[in-house]
Amino acid sequence: MKKIITILMIIVFTAVLTLGAAGCGQKQTASQQNAKESANTQESAQDEVERIKKAGKLVVGTSADYPPFEFHQVVNGKDQIVGFDIDLAKAIADELGVELEIKDMDFKSIISAVLTKTVDIGIAGFTITEDRKESVNFSEPYLEGGQQIITYVGSGVKSKEDLKGKTIGVQISTTGEEEAKKIEGAKLKQFDTVDAAMMDLLNKRIEAVIIDFAVAQAYAANNPGKLELIGDMLDDAAKAVVLRKEDVKLLEVVNKVINDLKESGEHEKLVKKWFVDFKPSN
Ligand code: ARG
Repeated sequence: MKKIITILMIIVFTAVLTLGAAGCGQKQTASQQNAKESANTQESAQDEVERIKKAGKLVVGTSADYPPFEFHQVVNGKDQIVGFDIDLAKAIADELGVELEIKDMDFKSIISAVLTKTVDIGIAGFTITEDRKESVNFSEPYLEGGQQIITYVGSGVKSKEDLKGKTIGVQISTTGEEEAKKIEGAKLKQFDTVDAAMMDLLNKRIEAVIIDFAVAQAYAANNPGKLELIGDMLDDAAKAVVLRKEDVKLLEVVNKVINDLKESGEHEKLVKKWFVDFKPSN
């Protein structure tokens, strides 16, 4: 009996040892795996800049419904996408020595387009948020600004509080949508584009829209006597370029461009061109 117990104990002991070793082995393999992966990531991050250079073009995702950040304008009889963000995108493409390709899409699709590599980066007046930081990287901020309520003249809306029971138009997946959700008793109507939301506002189908302050100003200037900005900005947040987390080398390039623009005074010129002196023409 004693012998059997001893044998049993030996079996159990060996089993524990073997399992333990197997466990360790697995751990080792996992950490080796991690090391390999991070080396790969670094490689692909470096490759990303190289790949863009080889491809000869930088593909930027935007939502061209957001003057003066990005919007359609007829230049020399041709429809073009222009704006502060487009000039910034051009500066990044120049730094990389490549052509710029703009892909216009609904704002809600840009982050997934970045993640699925449909585009290289996203520039669309993106506010830096903690939520977005979970899936993407942000560059250094390139502008400050906040969300603004805009209404039609004669709507009777004079303050945020007046929006109780009223309908606010928002572009899907924006911080404007987040702000609208915080307004007590207000109803939300979601739009794919800001143009569509503004159309509903001008046709008095909704009482307000929440968009970036500068954009509200641009739409108001473009529709004289029809629209008015209500109250203070709802938030105060920085705008930045959106990149894939692994593209750390590309992030360095983008940050260098932003810092160079700031240091050379070119950034100030762009702010003057698109925000201070901006006169929408269509
Ligand atoms: N700043 C806001 C955000 O990050 C709105 C940006 C909307 N941009 C656009 N191009 N429609 O959510």
